[in-house]
Amino acid sequence: MVLNRGLFITFEGIDGSGKTLQLKLLTADLEKADLKYLLLREPGGTSISEQIRKILLDRKNKEMSAETELLLFAAARAQLVKQIVEPALAAKTIVISDRFFDSTTVYQGYGRGMNVDFVHRLNNFATQGLQPDLTFYFDISVETALDRLKNRTEKADRIDLESQIFMEKTRLGYLQIAEENPNRVRIIDAERAPEEIYKDLKLQFEQAVNLMKCR
Ligand code: TYD
Repeated sequence: MVLNRGLFITFEGIDGSGKTLQLKLLTADLEKADLKYLLLREPGGTSISEQIRKILLDRKNKEMSAETELLLFAAARAQLVKQIVEPALAAKTIVISDRFFDSTTVYQGYGRGMNVDFVHRLNNFATQGLQPDLTFYFDISVETALDRLKNRTEKADRIDLESQIFMEKTRLGYLQIAEENPNRVRIIDAERAPEEIYKDLKLQFEQAVNLMKCR
C-alpha cells in the first residue's frame, strides 16, 4: 500500500521503558500489512551518525563535556535528517525513529541542566524545522525502569550509567514536553503488560495512518 504522503513517527521514553519491544511488535505488523516503512534509531542511521554514536556511547569518554555531548547528538541528527529522513518522507514512506529530538531536550536539557530554550533552538536548526507528525512517549516510573534494567544482559553504555536523579529529571522532562505538545505527543502508560501496551499503541498508530490518508 502506498500512502498520500510520508509520516514521521518517533518513539521516546527513559531507558528501560520498553519502547524497543513495542517498536519490534509494530514493525512486524507493518510488514504483514505490506506498508512501506523505514526504521531508524538515534543516534545513528548514517555512516557519519553511527561514527558519532560510537563516540557518544563509549564508556571510555568520561571527560566529555555536556556541551560536546549536546552538539554531537545534534550533529548526528542533522546528518540523519538530511541524508535519510527527508528523502524517505518525500518518497511517501512511514519513517519511525527510536528516539529523536525530544531525547536531546530531556537528556541534555532537563537531565544535564543545559538551557532548554537553547536546546529547542539547536534541535530546530539540526532538523531544519522538521517535526515528527506523532510521538509515542512510553511513560514509566524510574523504579520500574530500574527493575527492568537490572535484568538486561547487555553492558550499560556511558549514558545508561547515569544516576536515578538524572532519570527522574528526564522523566519529568518528557511529561513537560507532552504537556506542551498535546497534538503531537501521545502518552502511553508503559507500566502495563507488553500486550496491553501494544493494543493501545496499535490503535493510536492506525488512527494516525487513517487521518493521514484523508489529508
Ligand atoms: P541506546 O542504546 O540507543 O538506548 P535506548 O535503547 O535506551 O534508546 O542509547 C542511546 C542513549 O543515548 C540513551 O541512553 C539515550 C541517550 N540519548 C541522549 O542522551 N540524547 C539524545 O539526543 C539521544 C538521541 C539519545
